This record gives sequence, structure tokens and C-alpha cells, in this order.
Amino acid sequence: MKILFLLLISLISIQASEELALKKIKKFGKNLQKELKGGLRLSPLKAIEICQMKAPEIEKQVSSEGIKIGRVSLKKRNPQNAPKAWMRSYIKEFHEKKISKNYIITDLNNGKKGLLKPIRTMPLCLKCHGENIDKSLYRAILNKYPKDRAIGYKVGEIRGFFWAEY
Ligand code: HEC
Repeated sequence: MKILFLLLISLISIQASEELALKKIKKFGKNLQKELKGGLRLSPLKAIEICQMKAPEIEKQVSSEGIKIGRVSLKKRNPQNAPKAWMRSYIKEFHEKKISKNYIITDLNNGKKGLLKPIRTMPLCLKCHGENIDKSLYRAILNKYPKDRAIGYKVGEIRGFFWAEY
């Protein structure tokens, strides 16, 4: 009976951390988009500045004791958003459409869990990640991110992923 009870408790807590991770990812995305849209209302250049400043800030804000949240991409803009070892094979499978799920969860070798959720390209994103980016805007991007590879995306393509470790 006691074992059953403990098992139930641990199942509930696994479920709770998964829900919390997804909730934090949602908040991360929502806050970022709000900043982005606010910036775009001023100018695309301003929006880039805001993105550069706010993305790491919001990432820290939504991460908490026990749950780390971030973004990652194979063709990244910020070199800090490179995939970690555990993400690589899943990212590949998502891109090759071998995974149709909304997100995956995997066991990491430190006893934690890793969650990966694709971020799709929307029309709003094309201004800075699309195929025909305004030349002077792209110069400004390259100025801040000389190794930028995050262009050439089409609507609906996977632009990158939210990740969580908990
Ligand atoms: C105003 C220009 C701009 C727009 C519009 C924009 N982004 Fe970005 N994006 C950036 C910048 C700048 C960075 C680098 C942020 C940083 O330094 O962390 C970035 C980084 C990212 C990253 C992190 C991975 C990487 O490449 O470093 C993802 C994922 C991403 N953008 C997705 C999107 C999506 C999805 C949209 C549309 C909803 C979008 N972006 C719209 C400028 C933009």
C-alpha cells in the first residue's frame, strides 16, 4: 500500500513538472512575441535591439529553481542557442518529420528530463528570418550577429525549438 502510494505521488510530481515546463515555455513565447510586436511597431531595427536584449532576460525570468528554459536552432542567429548533445537526434527527427508530436520528453543522463518543442515560422517572423530580408535591416542583424544563419525560412517551417530541463 505504502509503495503504491509513493508511486502515485512520484507519478503526480512528474506530471506536475511536465505541466510546469510547458507553462513556462508558453509564457516565454508569449512574452517574447509581445516584446517583438511592440518593437516592430516602432521599427524593425528597434525590434532587433529589443529581441537581443529581452530574449536572454525573459529566458532567465521564466527559468526557476529546478526548471531551465531556453531556445535552440540548427541554423541559429545567436551562437548561444546551439543545440546541446541530447537535443541533436530529436531535432533531426523533427526536421525530417519522423516525429509528428507537439513535443517530446526524454530522460537525460543526470537524472533530469529534457523537453523539446518546435517553434514554427509565422508570417510575422519573415521580416527577420525569411528569404527576402530588407538589405539595411540585414546589415544591422549581421552587425550584431556576424555568424547569423537564421534566414531563408518559409511560413510553417520549424524555425527552432523551445527546450526545458527539469
Ligand atoms: C525584428 C526581427 C525579428 C523578428 C521579426 C523575429 N525574430 Fe527571431 N530572432 C531575432 C534576433 C535578433 C534573434 C537573436 C536573439 C538573441 O540574441 O538571443 C532571434 C532569435 C530567434 C530564435 C532563437 C534561435 C536563434 O536563431 O538564435 C528563434 C527560435 C527565433 N528567433 C524565432 C522567431 C520566430 C518564430 C519569429 C516569429 C514569431 C521570430 N523569431 C521573429 C530577430 C527577429
